[in-house]
Amino acid sequence: MSESGRDAWDPHQYRKFADERSQPFWDLVGLIQPSGVPGGGYGRCADLGCGSGELTAAVTDRLNIAEMLGVDSSDAMLAKARADVSEDEHRLRFARGDIAHWSGRGDHDLVIANASLQWVPDHAAVLERWWKALAPGGQLAVQVPANADHPSHLVATQVASTEPFLSAFNCLPPADPVVQNVLAPEQYALLLERLGAVAQHVRLQVYGHRLASSDEVVEWVRGTSLTRFTRLLSEELAAAYIAAYRERLLEAIGDEAPYFYPFKRILIWARKGD
Ligand SMILES: C[S@@+](CC[C@H](N)C(=O)[O-])C[C@H]1O[C@@H](n2cnc3c(N)ncnc32)[C@H](O)[C@@H]1O
Repeated sequence: MSESGRDAWDPHQYRKFADERSQPFWDLVGLIQPSGVPGGGYGRCADLGCGSGELTAAVTDRLNIAEMLGVDSSDAMLAKARADVSEDEHRLRFARGDIAHWSGRGDHDLVIANASLQWVPDHAAVLERWWKALAPGGQLAVQVPANADHPSHLVATQVASTEPFLSAFNCLPPADPVVQNVLAPEQYALLLERLGAVAQHVRLQVYGHRLASSDEVVEWVRGTSLTRFTRLLSEELAAAYIAAYRERLLEAIGDEAPYFYPFKRILIWARKGD
């Protein structure tokens, strides 16, 4: 996420679909192999784009991680993380940082990034930096959405290209980061091979979310992809944008109850050689 504009991340809005959003996270964690350390557990780990931190804390417990750092650029998300999760000087800490440039000294057992990599460009260079942070035998686990071709995302761009929003964006509505940044699954596989992964697993998975109605899709994307528009608009214009989006979206997907929302995601896991 660029540093311009206000922080549009709203932990309350993002957590509205906490169960649906956490499912891919736990599927990703399921790809992580045992550490090989007697008694289990992992040493230094990072959760990049940790958001409001509840999954960071949960995985720290579940995998018996000795030292976890959650990194995020959103003050609102970090404040929520610090309010809800008790930081511990050694075991679990949160820090403000930019995951686009984050790296480490080759001493991390695990680098996890759930639903955050899509916000930054040049995945080949970013993954190379993340890979360098891994210790020998370290593991990388990344999940990115790949749903840019669903009307929920297409309509967002279409509405942003109409007035009065277009002028508010100086005729340049922010592009969909998933379209701009997310690669095809096989390209991630190739990148991992080039980085020297000794084992890898990359897959495209469709998560089928049964929402109460089509209208709930609006609530869903408000917490994520619409933030790139609303953060640049006045409160009044942001409300008008969401109203216009809702109208166009329901025309496109129908006003149904319940509504089945298929959501494609890429799960990426790899291990560095010992
Ligand atoms: C969709 S949320 C995912 C949060 C968390 N990983 C989860 O699964 O619940 C994406 C997070 O990435 C963070 N983010 C986006 N771009 C970032 C950047 N360049 N550096 C650090 N964090 C970033 C956002 O602030 C947000 O908290």
